[in-house]
Amino acid sequence: MDKKYRILVADTEPTVRTAIVNYFTEMNFECLGVETESEVINLVQKSEPDLIILALELNGIDLLRHLKSAKPNTEVILTSSGANVPDIVRAMKMGAYNVMVKPVQLEELRDQTYRILEIVTTPPQKTRQDRMDDKKNGLIARLMKSTEPSMVELFSVAKVVAASDSTIFITGESGTGKELMSSFIHLNSPRRNESMVPVNCGAIPENLIESELFGHVKGAFTGAIANRTGRLKAADSGTLFLDEVSELPLHMQVKLLRALQEKRFEPVGASRSEESDFRIIAATNRDIEKEVEEGRFREDLYYRLNVIPLHMPALRNHRGDIMPLVEYFIERFNNEKGLEVEGIEDEVKDRLRTYAWPGNIRELENVIERTVILKRFGKLTVNDLPKKLRGEGNLVLTDQGFVDMPEDGIDLNLEVARLEERLIKLALDRTNGNKNQAARLLHLNRTTLVEKNKETRTGSLTENTTTLQ
Ligand SMILES: Nc1ncnc2c1ncn2[C@@H]1O[C@H](COP(=O)(O)OP(=O)(O)OP(=O)(O)O)[C@@H](O)[C@H]1O
Ligand SMILES: [Mg+2]
Repeated sequence: MDKKYRILVADTEPTVRTAIVNYFTEMNFECLGVETESEVINLVQKSEPDLIILALELNGIDLLRHLKSAKPNTEVILTSSGANVPDIVRAMKMGAYNVMVKPVQLEELRDQTYRILEIVTTPPQKTRQDRMDDKKNGLIARLMKSTEPSMVELFSVAKVVAASDSTIFITGESGTGKELMSSFIHLNSPRRNESMVPVNCGAIPENLIESELFGHVKGAFTGAIANRTGRLKAADSGTLFLDEVSELPLHMQVKLLRALQEKRFEPVGASRSEESDFRIIAATNRDIEKEVEEGRFREDLYYRLNVIPLHMPALRNHRGDIMPLVEYFIERFNNEKGLEVEGIEDEVKDRLRTYAWPGNIRELENVIERTVILKRFGKLTVNDLPKKLRGEGNLVLTDQGFVDMPEDGIDLNLEVARLEERLIKLALDRTNGNKNQAARLLHLNRTTLVEKNKETRTGSLTENTTTLQ
C-alpha cells in the first residue's frame, strides 16, 4: 500500500475499539480510536479520515446524518450490537456503506475496507466451486443494482444480515428467487467456506423426514442398514437451508424446534444426542402467518425462525427489473445454445413489461428460453411470444389501466364477466372474505354479491377463470 489511509474507529466498548485499531495499525493503516460523539465530530473536521467505523450505540444514526452532510465523501461502516431491521434500512438509506452486526469479524471488516478504498490485492486462484458461487452472486448482483424501491430496501437489509449469524426467514411467491437469495446470504457470510446444506421439507416423504434431518443409527428401522448422518450434522460450521419449511408435518416441527433451541438432537434409534453448529435460513412461498393462525404451523417455531424476515417481492411489483432480466436471459440462452437472437421489438417490450408474471422470475426465464430457442436468430416480434403474452383471447390490462384489444377481437360478455369476477375477488380479499363489507365496497347489496359469486363458482365462465372461495 503506497498511500497511508486514515481510519477512525468510534466505539464506546474499549475491547472492540482496541481490537479494530490494533488490527488495522498492524496492516499499516493510520488508525485512531475514539469513544465519544464530540471526539468524532472534532477529529473529522481536523483529520478528514477516509473511512469511519462507527458504533450505532454512539448515537450513530444522528452522527451519520451529520457526517454525510459535512463530509459526503467519507465512507461510514456502522457496527451494531443487534440486527435491528428498521435502523439498518434507515442507515443504508442515509448513505452508510454497510451495517455490520457485532461481533464484527475482523477479516470481513478488512475486505469491506479494501473494497471501499479500492485497494487491490492479488486474488487467489479460483476453483470450480468459486466460479459457480460467482455466478450465483452475479445473478443477485444484477438485482442489487435495481432502483425499484422494494428491491433497494430488500438488498440494504440482505447485504447487512448476510454478514451476521442471525436466522433468516425468506418469504415470497414461487419463482421470486428465494433459493438464490439464500445462496447469496451464505456466500456473503463468515461461513462461506463451509457448505450450505439444503433440505427441501416439501419433497421428503413423511416417514423419512426425521432420519433425513437428524440421521439414524444402523438397525433403527427396517432398511437402516448402516449409520447415516443427517442434514443438521452435515451443516456443522455451515448453513442449513430449510426450504419450503411450512410443509413440515406438525410432529416434526416440534422436534425441529427443540433441535434448533438446543443445537442438539438425537439421530433415530440413537441413545446419545449429537451437536451441530449451523446458521439457519428458512424459506416458504406460503402465507406463513395464515398457516400459523390456522394451526398448520407452530407459532413457537415461527418465532424461532422469523428473526430477520426478508420478503422477495413479486416480479409485478418491481417491473423496472423486467427488461434487464430479459436482456440477461437472451444473452445467456444465446451463449448456452449457440443462437443469435438480437434485439426486441418495442411492442414485445410492452407485453413483457405489462404481463402479470404469476410465476415471477422463473416464468420469465422459461418464456425467454422457449422464445429464444424457437426464434434462433433475428429480432423478437410479438408473434414469437407464447399465446398468454400475445394476449389472444385475453384482454391485456396495461400499467396505465388501458385495455388492449387483440387483433382477432374479444368476446365482450366474457371479458366483462371476467373483470367483474376479478373485482369481486379483490373486494373479498381486501375485507378478508367479509361479504357485507365487500358488498359495500362494490356498491352492491349482499344478495347480489352472493349470487354473482355463485355464478362464477359454478364455472359458467371459462376454464381459466379463478373460482371464488
Ligand atoms: N436475479 C436473478 N437473475 C437471474 N435469474 C434469477 C434471479 N432470481 C431468480 N432467478 C432464476 O429464477 C428461477 C427461480 O429462482 P429460485 O429458485 O431462487 O426461486 P424460489 O423463490 O426459490 O422459487 P420456488 O418458490 O418455486 O422454490 C431460478 O431459475 C433462478 O435462477
Ligand atoms: Mg425455491
